[in-house]
Parts: sequence; structure tokens; C-alpha cells
Amino acid sequence: MYTANPSRYTHMQYRRCGRSGVLLPALSLGFWHNFGCVTPEEQSRAIVRAAFDAGITHFDLANNYGPEPGAAEERLGKFLQDDFASHRDELFIATKAAYDMWEGPYGSWASRKHLMASLDQSLRRLRLDYVDLFYCHRYDPETPLNETLQALVDIVRQGKALYVGLSRWPMEAARFGYDYLCQHDVPCLIYQGRLNLFDQAPKTDGILQAAATAGAGFISFSPLAQGLLTDRYLNGIPSDSRIAHDPRFLKAEALTPQTMERIRALNKIATARGESLASTALAWILHHKEVTSVIIGASSPEQLHKNLACLQSPDFSDEELAAIAAILT
Ligand SMILES: NC(=O)c1ccc[n+]([C@@H]2O[C@H](COP(=O)([O-])OP(=O)(O)OC[C@H]3O[C@@H](n4cnc5c(N)ncnc54)[C@H](OP(=O)(O)O)[C@@H]3O)[C@@H](O)[C@H]2O)c1
Repeated sequence: MYTANPSRYTHMQYRRCGRSGVLLPALSLGFWHNFGCVTPEEQSRAIVRAAFDAGITHFDLANNYGPEPGAAEERLGKFLQDDFASHRDELFIATKAAYDMWEGPYGSWASRKHLMASLDQSLRRLRLDYVDLFYCHRYDPETPLNETLQALVDIVRQGKALYVGLSRWPMEAARFGYDYLCQHDVPCLIYQGRLNLFDQAPKTDGILQAAATAGAGFISFSPLAQGLLTDRYLNGIPSDSRIAHDPRFLKAEALTPQTMERIRALNKIATARGESLASTALAWILHHKEVTSVIIGASSPEQLHKNLACLQSPDFSDEELAAIAAILT
């Protein structure tokens, strides 16, 4: 039996998402890893409870998160029913479609057929009538943008999602999307892209600024570069780390001598600031005013609690920002 922490809203910061009415927590919880069949159910449950107890109201899912695809939505659906039934209106739940999900010509990409069918499947797995946010998970160069965007508009009109967002769309397509959605009175709530100390593409290619100009929020995925921007790999590869136990997306080859040198140098800066590297890495993202939230992954409640410390991070001095930039050039 779960009883939510009565002080859960005391310490979290909530930030306005673009020019919308929505406030999102500075830290959101992602379900890409740690919610599939390879993770014990009670471990996943403990992470979700710890998140909600800390004021994390935003959960980020996708149709294909697992393994197996769909497993993360199924698991959260069970937790929502068991633990959070009386808290539904305190939660902001996102899911996505457009990556490979089922066999055949309609199981992937961003046709109206795929997006509509996938969301119906997601709602069944999540045991929900609607999600708060539905994303087109990637840009589809073969489907007319109008078809994808009109499907997003209609999904909101059908009441199956309250808001829509775009993830990993290139600049020009995203700009077209912002305009289309605005003209159809379903403004894009948020853009989801990878922004972290190691990948600053959204800053350099203008995606971050374009979202702000369009009135959309920006949410960063993989803010810790899947764990590289923490103390996880400073002394080798721990047996319970992502590289060791689930190397589908993060492989040992990522730990090149140059990357290790950068991690160590960044760790020194974090230590001088009196905090962990993870806190410095998350605070650096949140220091950008266009950023609404960062979606952290956590394989335990302890990691999640450690990452919450970034909310107390000191501001960055110009010297610190210059030193960080110098390490990364
Ligand atoms: N839109 C997209 O295409 C897209 C793509 C990727 C991700 N996402 C979203 O972004 C979310 C987060 O992605 P991510 O999991 O890559 O995020 P991340 O925060 O960069 O990495 C999370 C992993 O880092 C390690 N970690 C976290 N905190 C730590 C700490 N304090 N000390 C040591 N290790 C720590 C853990 O790995 P271990 O403990 O297992 O080593 C954890 O699972 C996903 O769940 C998903 O919702 C979206």
C-alpha cells in the first residue's frame, strides 16, 4: 500500500513550458530503461514512487520502451492503477510513436495510420483514457508533414491527448510543424531533443532558440549522456551499469581515452563546486533559460535522489562556464 509523501511539492522547481499554461518539474522521469522485463518490477515501482514523492510529476514514455516494446507502458499502467489512481490529475504523462513498434507497413514512422493506432495501443497499456502529451517521436521524410501534423491535431480534438510535441525533428520541419499546429489551434507544447554537456547540437543548430521563438518548451533527453556524465565510469565499468547489463545503446567503445579525459576534467570542476558531476551536468542544462525540464533516467531511487541535488546547485560563474567550454572543445 503506497501513501504519497505529503511534502512532495516542497522542494521541486516547476517551470512554465513555453507560452503554455503547463508547468513541468525541472527534473522529469524517463522510462526508456529500467522499466522493461529485465528489471525486477519492484525496483521499477520504487523508482516511480521515489520520483512522485520528490515532486516529479512528469513521466516520459514511448510506445516502444521496454524490452519488450510496450513493456514500460504496461508496467506504468499497473503502477498507475495500484499506486496512483487517486493522483491521476497530479501527473503529466507523455508517450510517443514513430519508431518501429509492430510488424508490417503500419508499425513505424509517422503516417496518420501509425500514430492513431499506436496511441490507442498505448492508452490500453497505460490503462488511461488520455495522455497529457503525445509526441511524434521522429521526423518521417517520406510522409507529408501535413498528414503527420493533422493527425496530431485530430488526436487532441479526439481527447486522446491534451497536448502534442515533436521529438528529434530537424529545424525546418520543426518550424513548419510549429506554424501548422498553431494555425490549427493546437500549438506545439514542447520540443524534445538531446542537449547535454557532450551534445550541444540543439544550441548550435538553433533548435533550442527556434522552440522558444515558437512559444514551445524544450525538454532534454539523456541529460547525463546515459550515465557518462556521472561518476559511474570513472574507475572502470561496474557490473550493474548500463554498459555492462544493457549495451544496446551505450557500448564500452564510448569510453575512449578522450572521453575519459573530459569526464575526469569535468568531475574536477564539479568537485570544486562542491557537488557531483551528475549535479553539475544537470544544472548546466537547466541554466539555459529556454529549457523547461531534463528527463533523467535512474536505475535506483538512490540515483534519483542524488540527481535531485542539482536543484541546489550554485549558479555558474563566467570562469566555470569558460573552463567547461574549454574542456569540451
Ligand atoms: N526522444 C527520444 O528519442 C529519446 C531518446 C533517448 C531518451 N529519451 C528519454 O530520455 C530519458 C532519459 O534518457 P537516459 O536514460 O539516457 O538519461 P540519462 O539521465 O542521461 O542516463 C540515465 C542513466 O545514467 C545512470 N545514472 C543516472 N544517475 C546517475 C548517478 N547519479 N550516478 C551514476 N549513474 C547515474 C543510470 O544508468 P545505470 O545505473 O544503468 O548505469 C541511468 O539509467 C529516457 O528514459 C526517455 O524517456 C528520449
